[in-house]
Amino acid sequence: MAALLRVAGLSKAFGALQVTQDVSFEVQAGEILGVIGPNGAGKTTLFGLLAGNIPPSAGRVEFAGEDITAAPAHERARLGLARTFQVPRPFGHMTVFENLKTAARFGGNLSDEEADAWVERVLAMTGMQSTADQLAGRLPLLMRKRHELARALAMKPKLMLVDEVAAGLTDQEVNQFIQLVQSIRKSGVTIIWIEHVMKTMLSATDRLLALHSGRLLAIGKPQDVFNHPDVRRVYLGA
Ligand SMILES: Nc1ncnc2c1ncn2[C@@H]1O[C@H](COP(=O)(O)OP(=O)(O)OP(=O)(O)O)[C@@H](O)[C@H]1O
Ligand SMILES: [Mg+2]
Repeated sequence: MAALLRVAGLSKAFGALQVTQDVSFEVQAGEILGVIGPNGAGKTTLFGLLAGNIPPSAGRVEFAGEDITAAPAHERARLGLARTFQVPRPFGHMTVFENLKTAARFGGNLSDEEADAWVERVLAMTGMQSTADQLAGRLPLLMRKRHELARALAMKPKLMLVDEVAAGLTDQEVNQFIQLVQSIRKSGVTIIWIEHVMKTMLSATDRLLALHSGRLLAIGKPQDVFNHPDVRRVYLGA
């Protein structure tokens, strides 16, 4: 089976700071790949490089067989690559419905009518129906996080990049997110998921990728990566 995403030799420097260093990996269609790493490891930067928000210093990104290394973010969205933001960026003055519809129209490339129908489904899938007419900028934390997932899902992506939705939530809320992300995967969306909550990453992913100081430390079965000596050294400081 061909990989949905191929990353080769990806590097990024901000001035003298090398934030991504020669990172290479592949993501298969249908999998959930978790990304772990300490604060500042370069996880969010990696998403910026994949989604086209940050231009790489070197390397190549291939998505669904196409070289997208030079493609701008909006073009990648149209090809089926959607991301959430660690710090959510909804259009605060627009309602939840309007936010999702905008994503469906311009990210998902749907017609007005198709977008209305799809947004209703996204609202149902993410448990957000009751908030459809609320201003996105006024949502409480849990709903703001769901909205961030819903906005990405509204783009009808093939690949969804999820950046820390579980941070600051209770165990029960985290479990709801695990179920939600897995139901999104079941609907046919491939997922790369950054999270600090180790329990989530161990139980809810198919594979894990560990980053440290911009370098790929390990990639593979969650338990193997968790037990990898380099990963343990980074987390336990041993
Ligand atoms: N635009 C930028 N200009 C300069 N340095 C940056 C920029 N964006 C990120 N960095 C630096 O790059 C490094 C990696 O940041 P990044 O946000 O990717 O880490 P992260 O793994 O997502 O961390 P966290 O777990 O805290 O979210 C950090 O040292 C950060 O300060
Ligand atoms: Mg981050």
